[in-house]
Amino acid sequence: MDIKSIGVLTSGGDAPGMNACIRAVTRAAIFEGWKVYGIYRGWEGLIIGNIKELTTESVSNTIQRGGTIIKTARSEEFRTVEGRQKAYENIKKFGIDALIVIGGNGSLAGAQALASEHDVTVIGLPGTIDNDLYGTDSTIGYDTALNTIVECVDKIRDTATSHDRIFFVEVMGRDAGFLAQNSAIAAGAEAAIIPEDNTDIDQLATFIGRGIRKSKNSSIVIVSEADGGAMHYAERVRKEYPQYEVRVSILGHLQRGGKPTAFDRILASRLGVASIDALKEGQRNVMIGIKNDQIVYVPIARAIKMDKPIDKELINVLSILSI
Ligand code: F6P
Repeated sequence: MDIKSIGVLTSGGDAPGMNACIRAVTRAAIFEGWKVYGIYRGWEGLIIGNIKELTTESVSNTIQRGGTIIKTARSEEFRTVEGRQKAYENIKKFGIDALIVIGGNGSLAGAQALASEHDVTVIGLPGTIDNDLYGTDSTIGYDTALNTIVECVDKIRDTATSHDRIFFVEVMGRDAGFLAQNSAIAAGAEAAIIPEDNTDIDQLATFIGRGIRKSKNSSIVIVSEADGGAMHYAERVRKEYPQYEVRVSILGHLQRGGKPTAFDRILASRLGVASIDALKEGQRNVMIGIKNDQIVYVPIARAIKMDKPIDKELINVLSILSI
């Protein structure tokens, strides 16, 4: 297909590095002589036609900024056939030949639904702090969020050790435990509770009790939000071990903002440029991912359907190093 103009949108939760990605998509497309439309507020913007042309200047001074300059939303209307029909009409009206969608699982599921109902070329780019998209080793924003969590847990540890406390720190990740597992390793936590590895609450309580009695005066347990929340685990440990002081810290949305790390900026830039290369090669309805540092194309249908497993080796590393 002879492409003359593309649209780019960010959808779902914002993630650090989305701006670097919008910048890369915009500049790589302009480099090819294509016109670029920024679609504001994700699928909602496509439905109502909140669409403006982006120039190389529109994306200046954005690579270092968190959030998304073209804004994002979670659109209920786009979940309907009627909503997607309206979106398609705007694609035609603006003469958009291909759509670049930067987002997580839900956003790419939306892209897949649109492409299955209408003759639209879609390229997906994995943008989410959760790292839960199959077919890519990393998603844009994950590394930054991981580093933010580790920085927070380092601070919490100062208080945990000073007061001899057990801290349960709840982190994001939706249904996936990547942020919890890897932040636990990086911050030297005693345990991670993640959905991919069923943690028996009795085991955890015993483990903490044993650890504290033996050699440690404080403990940090990272709890994935998918696992019933940190409060739930803290309550149980409080009951079993009333002699210990237990505290809960829910990191919340501070994990999602902030300047992207160099890793996320480079990843976002590479994936953005690769999305334009993919279009030049005639690819459609694929997500661009990174595997062993190489750009890969994954059918969007597959990226959203398959579960991305957590490497058992990571679980093993944490359990060995937390003795
Ligand atoms: O998908 C990113 C994410 O931050 C998840 O980790 C979290 O469960 C969810 O979004 C929170 O969404 P919202 O900002 O809409 O409350």
